[in-house]
Amino acid sequence: MKIKFSDNFLFGTATAAHQIEGDNKWNDWWYYEQVGKLPYKSGKACNHWELYRDDIELMAELGYNAYRFSIEWSRIFPEEGKFNEEAFNRYREIIELLLEKGITPSVTLHHFTSPLWFMRKGGFAKEENLKYWEQYVDKAADLLKGVKLVATFNEPMVYVMMGYLTAYWPPFWGDAEKAFTVEANILRAHRIAHELLSGKFEVGIVKSLPLIRPLSPASAEVAREVDNLQNWYFLDAVFSGELKTPFGTVRTGEGDADFIGVNYYTLHLIGNVDPVEGLYRYDFGGYGRTQMGWKICPEGIYAVLKEASRYERPIYVTENGIATLNDAERIDFIARHLYHVARALRDGVDVRGYFYWSLMDNYEWDKGFEPKFGLVEVGANFRRIPRESARFYGTVTRERRLELNHGEEPTP
Ligand code: NOJ
Repeated sequence: MKIKFSDNFLFGTATAAHQIEGDNKWNDWWYYEQVGKLPYKSGKACNHWELYRDDIELMAELGYNAYRFSIEWSRIFPEEGKFNEEAFNRYREIIELLLEKGITPSVTLHHFTSPLWFMRKGGFAKEENLKYWEQYVDKAADLLKGVKLVATFNEPMVYVMMGYLTAYWPPFWGDAEKAFTVEANILRAHRIAHELLSGKFEVGIVKSLPLIRPLSPASAEVAREVDNLQNWYFLDAVFSGELKTPFGTVRTGEGDADFIGVNYYTLHLIGNVDPVEGLYRYDFGGYGRTQMGWKICPEGIYAVLKEASRYERPIYVTENGIATLNDAERIDFIARHLYHVARALRDGVDVRGYFYWSLMDNYEWDKGFEPKFGLVEVGANFRRIPRESARFYGTVTRERRLELNHGEEPTP
């Protein structure tokens, strides 16, 4: 069967600063990598900080018309009040090169990492620290000229859960009640950034939205609450200004988002646990298929896109991807997910773009360099080696259509 995408649909790839740039020495992740609290060091990562020209050239050659990346707050402000002009100019150059090549930039302001100096003051756990965030956003307004899409935060709930609830990631807290305080302050930070930047840019939020379903009918109610806690209460609060948490409702202030970015990878099945526990205790349906252990569930993207359309804002699939050593599996993954994106479009969901995670293999946080998400392999001396999937995706983006050989996918 054939699928057709409109001419203005964005087809891009996604990356994040700490995962590709290398030598991001001024943030909290780098610090915990050095002191041995994290199992892997990012080091030079993909050396993108030096190879950015080649990488942009490569994207253009492959035929992608959009690119999502993040700017690193700690490079721009390595110390409190100290502005790094060189970093600012480098990001400017990246944006200008992308525009020159006809690649639409989509920029994330916060993708998991924060300046170490900011974290030492308590980071997002303290509302009074939002003044530092505001200074950064103010600078970003100059930096981002010409950019269309700006996302304030990447996956705020994953950030909160990993860093403050399970304590697997910096800053290794592990306190449920405080985790929801951080969530509330991130909502306030989003509101501040939206107020400062909207009008000049389309300012949205990028949310991880796994498909969350009960393991059996007996856990239907718990699964619904986990789904709300992880997927929807944050987004509801962006607009309503009221954040529902297991510890009561917190007033964060009414705001807006000009678009919603959806990061979709997998399905979480929830058993009979406490809903807060359900945030990190779930099942992948008996087996995991990717290098991350995640189940491949293409039809889930249709379901979450439909559910996210309740906010009546344009939607971008800001991440979707697979870690695998089998590139044929990646091609199949992309085709199947695009099929379900097309179904959502056909059913009236306002999806405006799709960004594959990731352009190239990179530093997968606490999993290091093992998981291979890239369309492009990073070989010895950082050599970029496009895989078959990179070409396949290039053909899709150029022709704006796709043929599926395996017939209809199941409907969730
Ligand atoms: C979501 C995150 O935004 C990104 O940083 C990460 O590498 C991918 N998922 C894959 O796990």
